Amino acid sequence: MSQVRTDLNTTARDVKAVEDRFQLATYKKMPIVAERGSGVWLFAADGKKYLDLYGGHAVAGTGHSHPQVVAALREQADKLLFYSNLVYSDARARAAEKLAAISPAPLTKVFFCNSGTEANENAMRMARMATERQNVITFTGGFHGRTADAISATFLGKYRELGKPNVPGHVASEFGDLEAVRQLADESIAAIMLEPIQSMAGVRIAEPQFYRGLRELCDERGIILIYDEVQTGVGRTGEWFFAGSDPGAGVIPDIITLAKALGSGIPVGACLVSQEIASHIKENDLGTTFGGGMMAMAAVTATLEAIEQDQMLANVKAVEEHLRDALESAPGVIEVRGKGFLLGLQLTEKAAEVHRALLEKQIITGTSSDPHVLRLLPPLCLHVDAVDWFVEQLRSVLKERS
Ligand SMILES: Cc1ncc(COP(=O)(O)O)c(C=O)c1O
Repeated sequence: MSQVRTDLNTTARDVKAVEDRFQLATYKKMPIVAERGSGVWLFAADGKKYLDLYGGHAVAGTGHSHPQVVAALREQADKLLFYSNLVYSDARARAAEKLAAISPAPLTKVFFCNSGTEANENAMRMARMATERQNVITFTGGFHGRTADAISATFLGKYRELGKPNVPGHVASEFGDLEAVRQLADESIAAIMLEPIQSMAGVRIAEPQFYRGLRELCDERGIILIYDEVQTGVGRTGEWFFAGSDPGAGVIPDIITLAKALGSGIPVGACLVSQEIASHIKENDLGTTFGGGMMAMAAVTATLEAIEQDQMLANVKAVEEHLRDALESAPGVIEVRGKGFLLGLQLTEKAAEVHRALLEKQIITGTSSDPHVLRLLPPLCLHVDAVDWFVEQLRSVLKERS
């Protein structure tokens, strides 16, 4: 047996070494030991303060450690950490009721789970149950998660390969090309699933008529339309959901999947479904031990209430406009793509290099599978002062490189 010490004193200096030694590789990490957070700021163990325009993979929607969310979690923790769906709970009732209140009609039923990939797996399963068909159309450039069915639905870069052997019955169509989808949408198709704004692919949004056309096609052929709003949901576009919004031609899908910002950092996923879909689901068809647990439910309610009380949707709209104006004349910025706080800056320079340079200036941004697109997924409470500082730093980074 190897002599592994587990009593290492993890001071700020050796945290990185200990993690690297004992944790499997996942993402390429930034050289930050995160210690605490507040709003759009992340504080590192070495005393540095970072402007966080990435939110830990778009999770920190309400900002880091929003006081209202923290208070709700403390209160719930004192009462009951967890009980499964075998019992009723006021925390769960409140979260479900609140979600139904903000969801576009007729999506008034919810299935709670724990992550985005699990939400998508269950959404596809429900579509198969409702239609008694098997196959699913998704889109090149879309990302839907890393579990078997979701990764098989992901036609982006190397991801699908990583999920071999893939679940059969997945076909990919071209994002934005309605005619191509029409060709594939035969009587074997249970669902069409899409990220309405393809984030990881470099923040790609389609024309409104694409979404309208998908809705019409699904209605015509009895196909379930699923919006993967794991990134676009919970206020990120300046609306509660992309579903029902102007850039999406007001289209409402049959199922919306959510995760990421829904729990402000407490793992939680959800499928919002119509009554019609719900009518096909019987007891024991769906399940998960942790989904609907009290801590997650307290986080959901507090997250949605904090977004409302702090008027974050209006803030997203106003600050997006300010950011777009400030970047309009910035040399090296070709285009600002996306909506609200899901933005892709198409740059003349390599996004990875700009990301690194900004990190040295204590600003956290994201990259994407498009090498020239820098992604911003900041907390919904990002304010104009921080944006101005970011734009100043970005301009100086791009100038140094031109
Ligand atoms: C659009 C989208 N769908 C699904 C997922 C998977 O979510 P999770 O990592 O919570 O399983 C992600 C994660 O990045 C995502 O961006």
